[in-house]
Amino acid sequence: MLHSKTLLIEEYLKTQHKDIIQLLCLTLGKNRAWLFANDDYQLDKNETRTLNALIKKRKQGVPFAYLSGNKGFYHLNFKVTPDTLIPRPETELLVDIALDLFAEKPCRLLDLGTGSGIIATTLADKNPHWEVWATDYFESAIKVAKQNATRAINFRQGTWFDAVPNQCFDLIISNPPYIEENDPCLDSLRHEPINALVSGKDGLDDIRLIIKQAPRHLNKKGYLLLEHGYNQQSRVVSLLRKKFIHIQTFQDYNSNDRAVLAQLQHK
Ligand SMILES: C[S@@+](CC[C@H](N)C(=O)[O-])C[C@H]1O[C@@H](n2cnc3c(N)ncnc32)[C@H](O)[C@@H]1O
Repeated sequence: MLHSKTLLIEEYLKTQHKDIIQLLCLTLGKNRAWLFANDDYQLDKNETRTLNALIKKRKQGVPFAYLSGNKGFYHLNFKVTPDTLIPRPETELLVDIALDLFAEKPCRLLDLGTGSGIIATTLADKNPHWEVWATDYFESAIKVAKQNATRAINFRQGTWFDAVPNQCFDLIISNPPYIEENDPCLDSLRHEPINALVSGKDGLDDIRLIIKQAPRHLNKKGYLLLEHGYNQQSRVVSLLRKKFIHIQTFQDYNSNDRAVLAQLQHK
């Protein structure tokens, strides 16, 4: 039920609206502690209108991050828009693996399909001495990623490696689209960009292409690090075996298979 009359915070808090606390915080520009300390505050007409609009969108399934316009990832807060995938906590695993792998060492890094720029920016922020590149097919995503960059990053637009012709890297990371085109889970993701999610019949079209083309863009003993679907790990490992060695597999914090790291076979 949406209220057209103005209510007190405590009256809203009693309702069962999804995310009512966060929506109140967003409307009033206050934090949770302020809400509870001022629960006798009566929203004015403008605030009521804003809150009602937010409640309506949330009920329609619009993710909270698109309403607030940002999402936390690792140690930073990122701007997100409907042109960019909302950062997922699983993807922090890729950042952890990259940080462990190169520790204090220099690294020329490529983040393929950067979206809001979370992987490139987080790693560049943690390692100001790394040379970081980031690509996406969509200019609209790159625009957001540029706004999120806290350090200098070489952004390029183009389809996968076409964006970085003749460039080689020590580490290529990608969280590419990997959902099967008929996966029923897409229903619940309908507000996010389909091009960031779906990759052909078995979800592996983009991963296949990246694995095939990566060797030409890796320095000697360079690494490829990929995020993939929970049921794709063995297929991704098989694809890597042709040209890669030292293949390591990783699970995310929910114990789902989630990432693979592999080193380019010595030529
Ligand atoms: C799963 S999202 C990941 C976004 C971001 N790296 C993250 O982890 O949140 C996949 C990204 O790949 C981009 N993408 C899709 N097709 C692409 C292509 N052919 N070439 C380059 N990027 C592409 C999408 O625009 C999207 O930003």
